[in-house]
Amino acid sequence: MKKLFVFAMLVVLAISCVAVEAKDLTIAFSQIGQESDWRTANTDSVNGTIEAHEGWTLVYDDAQQKQENQIKALRNFITQGVDYILFTGVVETGWDEVLKEVNEAEIPLILLDRMPSCADQIDYVAAFGGDFVKEGYRQVAWAGEYLKSLGRDGEDVQVVIMEGTTGSGAQVGRTEGNLAAMEQYPFLKLAAQQSGNFTRAEGQAVMESWLKSLDKIDVLIAQNDDMALGAIDAIKAAGLVPGKDIIIVGCDSVKAAFDAIVAGEMNCTVECTPLYGPTVESFIERIEAGEQFSKEIVHPEEFVYDMDGGIVLADNDGGSTTSIKAADVIDERQY
Ligand code: AHR
Repeated sequence: MKKLFVFAMLVVLAISCVAVEAKDLTIAFSQIGQESDWRTANTDSVNGTIEAHEGWTLVYDDAQQKQENQIKALRNFITQGVDYILFTGVVETGWDEVLKEVNEAEIPLILLDRMPSCADQIDYVAAFGGDFVKEGYRQVAWAGEYLKSLGRDGEDVQVVIMEGTTGSGAQVGRTEGNLAAMEQYPFLKLAAQQSGNFTRAEGQAVMESWLKSLDKIDVLIAQNDDMALGAIDAIKAAGLVPGKDIIIVGCDSVKAAFDAIVAGEMNCTVECTPLYGPTVESFIERIEAGEQFSKEIVHPEEFVYDMDGGIVLADNDGGSTTSIKAADVIDERQY
């Protein structure tokens, strides 16, 4: 009886080993370009994780910010018969046709970062990315609470919003969040809003032109840190003190923003993590093991970092967050 039991256990073990045996996979990633420090960290995280995974082969395409390049890359992935496609779209619209082709080819699609507006009309196996509306809301809410803590809520505070790439999910969502939070702080007055295309160079150019055309700027809300850093160069060149004469709130929480906050030249950065590699790996492993995900976008946990910490701000979803002092965690940052 005992021998029979041991034999049965060995059979079960052998079957389960066969069931979990990893399959070789070709995983294609259509990345939008390399416009920011965030994007570089995102590419490194996803590509590095796939390349390090035994049996997985990466097919990578950098679309250089052009939608037509991404459409071409997706069609190439279909022709190559890859096993998975990872996709983030430079803008929200214009993907219907090509993503339906991906579905017809029955290649599992994983949506990352910026979601296409046709998401509810296509099939995808998982979706992961930042909560852009929440991030945008947090940026303005932080500025509102910080100004209140300085007793400046009795003034008309002039705010400029530097937006990301027009029509991208990150720009659309963060602008919605920025404007919704502005309504909660009536002393914040919108002086201008313009795209800086998520790049440092364009952030600098937009700030230069605002400094010439606007009478007064009290707060810059930059929808990513690269644009904030470009704007800091323009502010210094104009003889003003960034972080003091103009309060600067960025988004992403890249290393260079932490350095700027610790140096007193920037006030706050709202986190949008680019470290997608481990999540992508776990999605694929679990899908291969037969798990199914809902169509809900999975959001990473993210925080708010500033000069002193301790600013309590309401989130757009009824929750709240307390800012963390950047200097306390700068050594732990991975990007
Ligand atoms: O889609 C995420 C955004 O794209 C990041 O905030 C920005 O830096 C990037 O270019």
